[in-house]
Amino acid sequence: MRVPRMVEFLVEAGRWAPSADNAQPWHFFWDGNEITLKYDGKRIGAKGFQIHHRATLMTMGAVVENILQAASGSHQGWACRVPRDESENFFSIRLNEAQQESVPPSDLPLFMRHTSRLPFSRRPLPESFLDFLKDQKGLKTFEGSKNLASISGLVRKASMARFRTREIHEWFAGSLRFGKDEVERGDGLDVSTFGLPPGGKALVRFISDWNRMSALNRIGGYRLLASMEAASITKAGAVIAIMGKPGMDEAIEAGRLMEKVWIEANANGLGVQPYFIVSDQLARLGEGLVPDELIDEVTKLASEAHEVLGGDGEVLYMLLRVGFGKAGPVRSLRLPLDAIFSVIRED
Ligand SMILES: Cc1cc2nc3c(=O)[nH]c(=O)nc-3n(C[C@H](O)[C@H](O)[C@H](O)COP(=O)(O)O)c2cc1C
Repeated sequence: MRVPRMVEFLVEAGRWAPSADNAQPWHFFWDGNEITLKYDGKRIGAKGFQIHHRATLMTMGAVVENILQAASGSHQGWACRVPRDESENFFSIRLNEAQQESVPPSDLPLFMRHTSRLPFSRRPLPESFLDFLKDQKGLKTFEGSKNLASISGLVRKASMARFRTREIHEWFAGSLRFGKDEVERGDGLDVSTFGLPPGGKALVRFISDWNRMSALNRIGGYRLLASMEAASITKAGAVIAIMGKPGMDEAIEAGRLMEKVWIEANANGLGVQPYFIVSDQLARLGEGLVPDELIDEVTKLASEAHEVLGGDGEVLYMLLRVGFGKAGPVRSLRLPLDAIFSVIRED
C-alpha cells in the first residue's frame, strides 16, 4: 500500500518528539484511514520505562502534541487515551482521501525542537516568550539568582539520591551510546550531546559500571556529581516547572504542555534541557521505590520541593532549564523509520 505524503509527514512529526533516554517507545501504524500510536513493549523490554510510567505518558503526550501541531486542522478527528495494555492505542487520527493527499506545511517549529545540555547565559528571557508562558495553565517560572538557587538545591538533592540508586544508574548506563557505531543505532543517549569537558566521556564510561560508582560513593562521589549536575541551573535564564494534578491522563497532558513550551522556547532562540530527576524521585517515594537508606533524605526533599514549588494537590512533572546557549548542541538521532512505522494491509 502506498503511504500518502501527509501520513508520512505526521509520522515524521511524531518521531521527532523527545523521549526519556531517547528510547522512542512508540510505534505508528497506518491502515489506509487512520494513523495509530502504540507503546512498543517488545522493543523497550523489561529494563525501559513501562507503558504506564510517568516518563512514557509524558513522552506520548509530546508525540501527540507534535502530530496535532503538524496536522493543524487537516484531519477529521483524533482521540487520545491511556491504554490498558500494549495492544491498545495511545492515540489515533483519521484522514479522509483529500486530507491524505493535501500538501504538508514546511518549516514547522516542532522540527527545530531539541535538547541542549550546554551552559546557558544568565541573559533574561525575551518578553514575547514570557508573555506566552503567562497564557499557559500549569506552569511556574523561576527567575533570578535566589529562585534558581532553590531549584538547583532540589536538583542537587534528587541527584544525590539518584547516584546511589542502583536501578536508576543501571538504566541510565544501558542507554548510553559511545562512539559512531553505537550512536548510529539511532536511539539512546549519545554521550556527545552532554557537552562534556575533556576527559568527561572517559569519566562517564568509568562510572557507568555500578560497582565503580558505589566504590566512588564511599568517598562522596555522588556529592560531587550531583553538585556538577545542579550547577548549570543557577546559571540559566529561568527554570520552568510543569505542574499538574496527579494521574495518567494528566501526565499525557503534562507531556503535551512540556512539548508546546519547549517548541516555543526553541523557536525564540532559547536552549532547553529537561530535568526529570526531582519529579522521578518524588514519584518513586510515593510508590515505595526509594531504597530504605535514602527514604529520610528523599522525604525531606519532598517537603522542600513543596515549599519551593507550591501547588496544592499538584505534582511536579518536569523542570525545564531554559536560556540562551553559548553554542549549538549536538542533535540526537532517531531510529530508522521501519523500526517504528508499519502499514497494516487489509487483505
Ligand atoms: C519524559 C522525559 C524525560 C527526560 N529527562 C531528561 C533529563 O532528566 N535530563 C536530560 O538531559 N534530558 C532529558 N530528557 C530529554 C531526552 O533525553 C531527549 O529528548 C532525547 O534524548 C532526544 O533528544 P532531543 O530532545 O534533542 O530530540 C527527557 C525527555 C523526556 C520526554
